[in-house]
Amino acid sequence: MDRFRIGSRSILIATGLSLLVVGCGKPAGEATNAGESANGAEPEMQPTTDALITRARDIFKPIPVNAPSLPGNPATADKLALGKMLYFEPRLSVTHSISCESCHNIGLGGADNSPTSAGFHGQRGARNSPTVFNAVFNFAQFWDGRAKDLEEQAAGPLVNPVEMASPKEHVAQQLAALPNYRDAFARAFPNDANPVSLANAQKAIALFEATLITPNAPFDKYLRGDATALNVTQKAGLSLFMDKGCSTCHSGVNLGGTMYAKFGQIEAPDAKYLPVGDKGRGGITGNAADDYFFKVPTLRNIALTAPYFHTGSEGDLAKAVDVMARTQLGLTLSKAETDQLVAFLGTLTGDQPQIAAPQLPASDAKSPPPAP
Ligand code: HEC
Ligand code: HEC
Repeated sequence: MDRFRIGSRSILIATGLSLLVVGCGKPAGEATNAGESANGAEPEMQPTTDALITRARDIFKPIPVNAPSLPGNPATADKLALGKMLYFEPRLSVTHSISCESCHNIGLGGADNSPTSAGFHGQRGARNSPTVFNAVFNFAQFWDGRAKDLEEQAAGPLVNPVEMASPKEHVAQQLAALPNYRDAFARAFPNDANPVSLANAQKAIALFEATLITPNAPFDKYLRGDATALNVTQKAGLSLFMDKGCSTCHSGVNLGGTMYAKFGQIEAPDAKYLPVGDKGRGGITGNAADDYFFKVPTLRNIALTAPYFHTGSEGDLAKAVDVMARTQLGLTLSKAETDQLVAFLGTLTGDQPQIAAPQLPASDAKSPPPAP
């Protein structure tokens, strides 16, 4: 592990695990979140002879307590602070009414508990808003994986007509018009001659999102060797999750986010879950073999982020589990099995990020007005 000091803050980077901590001596009012409140040392994996823990460790990994670093986007406290402001900034939308937080609410598990998200002028996109929590651990972003990482993803909603509907120029114009943003960008990107840009906004937002991780779920404690962190029913659910084959798709640190899979691998789902029009990955690659493949979503904090599926068409987690068993594995679960699986999924709820809303620069007479 290498330790760097930037100003009064210490940044800890572990190249193998890719960890980063910004903390110590943070100014009052700055965000406290998993990344910032962590003290640098990852909890250890305790030696264990427990057969279930040993088996689970081969398939899943605990969420680190420190935010991961992003390649090519080194963390500084100034960049993080800017990213947080932009995440909460409604003036990035042409109507000045929608921010990332609107659809990825930090108090609602990083999602919006709505089937599909209300966006620009109340139009609805066709897909459910996935949680941003732990999204940094996903191998690609969006249900169809069309963005490779958080940085690339962040441009999407800013210019997507159904989401924030900002023309590209609007974003930079809007930000450059507010003197405090000019300063905030200059501090965050000190070596950049023109720091206020969409590209730099994407970098700062991505960095902030990387801190939105939810460590210390009962399942993480269990994986680290605390055999008492799960009760008997939850352990039975974990066994079923592996025995029945859920973990062939939902694996890794996020129990998802490592691969694409066809929704309806064994049996076609009901059209309300899988309407014919949304071909998922096939819509991106144009390859018929990819039709109806979607990114296997994370199951982290799943108890907090109903409704489920890319259509947001199932509000009941037990029903979603039954749909999965049938469509992906060709299995009909008993009520007891479903209950055990749901109990296990409940152990995936971790510490929610504690974020104080940032102070945003006030608009003034020269600031561009919202579009009508
Ligand atoms: C109007 C609602 C809305 C707004 C505003 C919005 N999003 Fe999203 N977001 C969505 C929806 C819906 C999806 C899924 C779209 C898809 O997969 O095609 C999504 C997907 C994502 C993902 C991918 C997560 C994953 O696991 O695939 C991330 C990350 C994300 N948004 C971050 C942001 C950020 C950052 C902003 C602000 C710049 C933002 N979103 C603004 C609705 C919204
Ligand atoms: C063949 C791969 C595969 C298997 C096996 C599988 N899943 Fe899934 N799972 C997916 C995909 C793909 C989705 C996304 C479906 C969609 O909405 O397009 C998903 C979605 C889910 C969701 C909804 C997540 C959300 O945020 O909306 C839950 C819950 C879930 N799976 C649980 C399970 C359980 C429990 C099992 C075992 C009974 C299981 N899955 C087996 C691939 C799989």
